[in-house]
Amino acid sequence: MTLTLKVENTGPDPVSELSFTFPEHQAKNLALLVAVSTEGRGKNRGSATNLPIKVNQPDNSPPSLIWYHASLPKELAKGESLNIDALAVFTHTLRPFPEKITQAEAQLFLLQDSAHFTSPYKVKYQSLTVKLPSESVESYTKLENTKFSGSEIKYGPYENIPGFSYVPVIVHFPSNKPFAVAKELVREIEISHWGNVQVTEHYEVVHGGAQSTGEFSRLDFQARPHVRGASAFRNLIAMLPPRAHSIYYRDAIGNISTSNIYADSSKTLLEIEPRYPMFGGWKTSFTIGYGLPLRDYLFQSAGTRFLNFTFGSPMNDVLVENLTLKVVLPEGSKDISVSVPFPVKQSQETTFSHLDIAGRPTIVIEKANVIPEHNQYFQVHYKFSNLSLLTEPLMLIFGFFSLFVAGIIYMHADFTISKSSASYLAKQQWDEVLGTLQQLVDIINKCLVLHDKLEASLRELSRTGDVQACKAVRKSADGLLKDLSKDSKSLLAVLQSSPQAAHILPKVEELVVKERDLQEKIMLKHTTVIDSYEKKSAGRDIENRVASIQQKITSLKQEVDDLLEFVEDI
Ligand SMILES: *[C@@H]1O[C@H](CO)[C@@H](O)[C@H](O)[C@H]1NC(C)=O
Ligand SMILES: *[C@@H]1O[C@H](CO)[C@@H](O)[C@H](O)[C@H]1NC(C)=O
Repeated sequence: MTLTLKVENTGPDPVSELSFTFPEHQAKNLALLVAVSTEGRGKNRGSATNLPIKVNQPDNSPPSLIWYHASLPKELAKGESLNIDALAVFTHTLRPFPEKITQAEAQLFLLQDSAHFTSPYKVKYQSLTVKLPSESVESYTKLENTKFSGSEIKYGPYENIPGFSYVPVIVHFPSNKPFAVAKELVREIEISHWGNVQVTEHYEVVHGGAQSTGEFSRLDFQARPHVRGASAFRNLIAMLPPRAHSIYYRDAIGNISTSNIYADSSKTLLEIEPRYPMFGGWKTSFTIGYGLPLRDYLFQSAGTRFLNFTFGSPMNDVLVENLTLKVVLPEGSKDISVSVPFPVKQSQETTFSHLDIAGRPTIVIEKANVIPEHNQYFQVHYKFSNLSLLTEPLMLIFGFFSLFVAGIIYMHADFTISKSSASYLAKQQWDEVLGTLQQLVDIINKCLVLHDKLEASLRELSRTGDVQACKAVRKSADGLLKDLSKDSKSLLAVLQSSPQAAHILPKVEELVVKERDLQEKIMLKHTTVIDSYEKKSAGRDIENRVASIQQKITSLKQEVDDLLEFVEDI
């Protein structure tokens, strides 16, 4: 809504403020209100002065009106007049009607407003022009002084209207303009003092027009997109700075290659095409990113640096319901201040990326209802020591240095298992156990050889009847077996004291016990047989006497053999 006013002070006192009033339902969607005062008209128009505006409800206000007060550049004395131009932008003001349409139907909107300028002041002379997007109109309120021509509906002129006058008018008209609304936009601007500004923008876009009902046919749409999908939009255009580079566009699935870039010396146009045409109520999320040369946006003055960057979305004709703007400054930035030409919510956080120690100071600016008119420049001032710039390279240099030193150490180091390490000690102890075990097995084998010798001496005895020779064999074997048994006892003691041998110890002990048992039984047999020979017993008697012993010997031999096999396999 553009307002062109000529105001005159008809009262006795000078005035310093001009008030605008809007009905509450309009005011709650007011995205922007600016007023400028200009000297002269037409060709003699002088320079414009932006008027500061503040919101303040006077006590005597009629209900459901919101007041905005613009401070005049100089007091208006009695009888003096002044030209004021104002621009008010409202969002969510056009209501789709019907609210739901099919793929083939056109989209229609309702505009509700007042034919009279709703002002706290008496209006001497006023007219209203409604400019439609096209020459067609479905219907409009016809008052006595109404004219429709081309794509404009003109109400008025009206003369001498009292203050707070409200005459409702409704205009119902078709519009198939893309109705793109970004429910959320997160813009991240990351400054690298190495020469780059990286911009990343995450969008959640919805078609904010009439809801699409019925089935969607892509075939119909592709055959006749202007009829079967007139209200849909297929692409969005982002106007990026001329020197944007490394541009990408992707959504949750990945890179979208159906985007186009048109660049000339004054701008870079990025045409992005979602994966499907956008009908009323349909949503899509995507991310675009691009790099910019730092020197175009970062400047220095009086010891501080400042970023001078555009505020809103680079997309044409997109309303941003919630904008979050993050400016990520280099690590080590200090004394940060922000200046935005309109009120915003501001906070600060810290962003971490690789190689950061303290994190990067990040300015977070939030604003609701952001329109293309908000695409103004804002500034972030901060102090930064060039020494901080060296932190990361120094870290890298140190990092690589450490890596190489580690490499050198590695090359020269002896990586055989350290003599003091636990695993080395464990291995050593186990080797000792195995050694001891081998000695023990050797001893048992020697014993078994002696057993065989004793048995052989008995067979010799039965052949020759030489008791003395047999006794001699027995005597020498006895002595040897005693020595071996002493040795085996001490070896067993070694094994019993080693924790590493605990799990094999029962079998080893059993082997030693069984061998001794076998030895005893063989001795017993030997004694019995010799005894019998000395008593000159008959061969059959001898056999009878030793039969039970022989049985035990046979089974013990088997057991000793089995155990020995087991122990040798360890
Ligand atoms: C993404 O698609 C664009 C075409 O729009 C192409 O130029 C670019 O190389 C693609 N990027 C990747 C990472 O695939
Ligand atoms: C920011 O940049 C714009 C465009 O280059 C320029 O018009 C404006 O004066 C700059 N603002 C400041 C504070 O430097």
